[in-house]
Amino acid sequence: MQRLTAIFPLGLLLVACVDASGDSASTTDADDTSAGTSTGADAPEVTYWRDIKTVLDAKCVGCHSPGNLAPFSLESYADASAVASALPGSIMAGTMPPWPPDAACGTYLHDRSLAEADQETLLKWVELGAPEGDPADAPPAPPAPEEIEFDIELALPEPYTPTIAPDEYRCFLLPWPEDQETFITALSVTPGERQIVHHVIAFAIPPDQVADYQALDDADADPGYLCYGGPGGQQSGGRVPWIGAWVPGGDPGDMPEGTGIKVQPGSLVAVQMHYHTYPGARPDQSRIQIRTAASVDKVAAMMPFTNPAWVQGSEPMLIPAGEPRVVHNFAADVSNYLPLLFPDGDFQAGDSFMVHAAALHMHTRGVRGSLGLTGGQSTCLLDIPRWDFNWQGSYQLTQPVTVRPGDELRIECEWDNTAANQPVENGVLQQPRDILWGEGTGDEMCLGILYVTGV
Ligand code: HEC
Repeated sequence: MQRLTAIFPLGLLLVACVDASGDSASTTDADDTSAGTSTGADAPEVTYWRDIKTVLDAKCVGCHSPGNLAPFSLESYADASAVASALPGSIMAGTMPPWPPDAACGTYLHDRSLAEADQETLLKWVELGAPEGDPADAPPAPPAPEEIEFDIELALPEPYTPTIAPDEYRCFLLPWPEDQETFITALSVTPGERQIVHHVIAFAIPPDQVADYQALDDADADPGYLCYGGPGGQQSGGRVPWIGAWVPGGDPGDMPEGTGIKVQPGSLVAVQMHYHTYPGARPDQSRIQIRTAASVDKVAAMMPFTNPAWVQGSEPMLIPAGEPRVVHNFAADVSNYLPLLFPDGDFQAGDSFMVHAAALHMHTRGVRGSLGLTGGQSTCLLDIPRWDFNWQGSYQLTQPVTVRPGDELRIECEWDNTAANQPVENGVLQQPRDILWGEGTGDEMCLGILYVTGV
């Protein structure tokens, strides 16, 4: 025990040597001087096999394994112990695992964050010198999550290698194969080339907008077309019909039980790929799997929410150059807006509805955003205290929230438009300039996206 603690300042590369010398977790040396434990002799109180592997497997390995997006592996004892000294910084800063929502606002399914107890266990393990322990102590692996049975598989039209560094946002249009009205009840993405696929957002383009999108694709000589803020298209402005979002290590993609999004025959699926471009990257041909149902208990829709006056420009969402803290917010009773989302009469104006999942969308100069209800009730839906464009997603509430007439949806976004918070675009660090609402890389958005159904 003392030797293990003593080597800590020398760095963790020594851990392997200590273990190799036989001073491992399961020895029963009689010279144990540590107090307080009556069993286990000098066994470290935290070991890889007994305490750490389960945490890393559940919370890190989805991204930190060979061929995946994260730059190093945490898959084995050798991998994890080699980098152990690098872990505490990110764990204490809360940057790893990437999980932007603030837990004080709400709880969500498929939470990637580390429980406080697990954080402490990991920190203790590193402090003790990353002891391996005995593989026989490993707790049984948790049951594998239930497999979703998909019935539609779509793929990017051809393998594609991104060329714009460091990031390329490209949309691909995929034909929707069903010839009858259908409901999407789950959507999952399998990246073709995991090292470059940073995130994927899928949209259902309704038949009356297909021509606009097709024109974008036709105008770009490469497969698909460049699309930064959303899928593009004249009408997409605030009305962005998301059907799914995926980030590495993300959730399996099933929608709340008994609900699904209606898709009409003749639609297109638009897939926005966010690629991390680097020299020598191999081509990607990601696949999307979809589970459909002929009917659902509750018809769902993705409800975009923002201030229409920002989009139209009648009340510009101005983010002045050089300003460190620019806040815009907007609140409105949206119940009259629902019949537009459910044109088949599933909703009457003034009906109550339920929010099952929430997402926020800003671009790179955003620093903070939140969505909630005011008026009749004060409820936080989603709060992202440190906005990171690289880690956006849709978060499924553990408890759906019912919105009644009189409640107002409220969105608030904050930006930092100083020189210290400018993005690199096409290799060029940008200079602060006045920014407005828009789809382009240099524009900003403040958009909420809610997955809603009737009550
Ligand atoms: C959703 C994917 C994902 C998960 C889950 C994840 N990481 Fe990471 N991690 C990354 C990526 C990608 C990077 C590279 C830097 C970046 O892009 O932010 C990274 C970088 C790191 C770094 C380098 C320093 C840094 O913060 O950039 C450390 C340390 C780290 N991860 C530790 C962990 C640990 C420990 C866990 C689990 C408790 C974990 N990560 C879970 C994706 C993930």
